[in-house]
Amino acid sequence: MSQHQLEKYVTDAHAQGMSHEEIVASLTKAGWRLHDFVDIVLERTQPESADALISVRNVTKKYNEKVTALNGVSFSVKKGGVTALLGPNGAGKTTLVRMMSTLLSPTSGRITVAGYDVVRDAKKLRSEIGLTGQYAAVDDMLTGRENLEMVGRLYHIGKTKARARASELLKQFDLEDAADRTLKTYSGGMRRRLDLAASLIMHPKVLFLDEPTTGLDPRSRFALWNVIRDLVKEGTTVLLTTQYLEEADQLADAIFVIDHGRIIAQGTADELKTQVGGDVLEIHMTEHAKAGHAAEVIRSFGSASPSADENHGIVTMPVAGGASVLVEVVRKLDAEKLAITNIVLRRPSLDDVFMKLTGHTAG
Ligand SMILES: Nc1ncnc2c1ncn2[C@@H]1O[C@H](COP(=O)(O)OP(=O)(O)OP(=O)(O)O)[C@@H](O)[C@H]1O
Ligand SMILES: [Mg+2]
Repeated sequence: MSQHQLEKYVTDAHAQGMSHEEIVASLTKAGWRLHDFVDIVLERTQPESADALISVRNVTKKYNEKVTALNGVSFSVKKGGVTALLGPNGAGKTTLVRMMSTLLSPTSGRITVAGYDVVRDAKKLRSEIGLTGQYAAVDDMLTGRENLEMVGRLYHIGKTKARARASELLKQFDLEDAADRTLKTYSGGMRRRLDLAASLIMHPKVLFLDEPTTGLDPRSRFALWNVIRDLVKEGTTVLLTTQYLEEADQLADAIFVIDHGRIIAQGTADELKTQVGGDVLEIHMTEHAKAGHAAEVIRSFGSASPSADENHGIVTMPVAGGASVLVEVVRKLDAEKLAITNIVLRRPSLDDVFMKLTGHTAG
């Protein structure tokens, strides 16, 4: 390898997400001496997006020989805003969050958060981040206020400060009325808010939320979204996981779609929707069970395969031709004596994107 090839190798390896250590190891293995490549490696790998608050490089996590939960994942998160990791059950979301928040070590690859390596600098990093679920062990027999004060004291901020911070958070999370009731009287949504408050005691720079609204009713979900928006306004960087496309659509500035341990798409909600291209035709069948049949009948009019939901009697299909396709589809269904209650042409949703990318629905 010439000097020029060496430079190209380092640049490419870095672009592919190989860490410093991996590049050095592979060059050493190939017979290069450290002093030959140290300058090149330093120079070429330096610009690791200086404004990245979270950097995940070529991360793999194997739980055992059979289970590879994550397989070569790389991405960066800028300071501020909400980033969503979107994926179905078992995609690897929780595994990733646990690694980013120091609770689990990657099998290979490297993660830094706020400049700290999640393995090497785990201790220092922990005071910079908040993680919900961390205090799922909140005490049922204590009140909301007592729980928050205890968490504060665990962080050595002292009784007086802990008390003040607890009051502030109870107010912010609309829990003042329930503050002096024991947790066992709280609803699911109230618990979730208290858990979130507990993770904010120390004003973390980065907040990790693993499926913050799963299991909540629509009203509580909406309330929690607003809480998250407020946190972002105050400058917190939020990384959340979700199975709800709507949640990512509502909250996230950047979305990474994960499936089977890999990132399969990324972008803003709009960018992802554009990937589907054109519009989506949505047909509601009078007889729900006929959805599958209807999908086959209209298949040739689509720009991609239709999908049929027989439980709800809905057929969806990406189309390119706009309104003219709609007319043809209605004629065709009519000729086949397939009755419909409604037909609409709409912009693609993130659901459609997920379907297009993975061939299956999210969730
Ligand atoms: N402790 C563990 N030991 C072995 N396998 C595990 C362990 N934890 C998770 N896994 C496996 O790793 C894969 C990813 O799991 P993970 O919990 O990260 O997914 P997820 O995206 O958070 O899913 P969900 O939406 O259900 O929470 C799954 O196949 C899961 O069965
Ligand atoms: Mg999970």
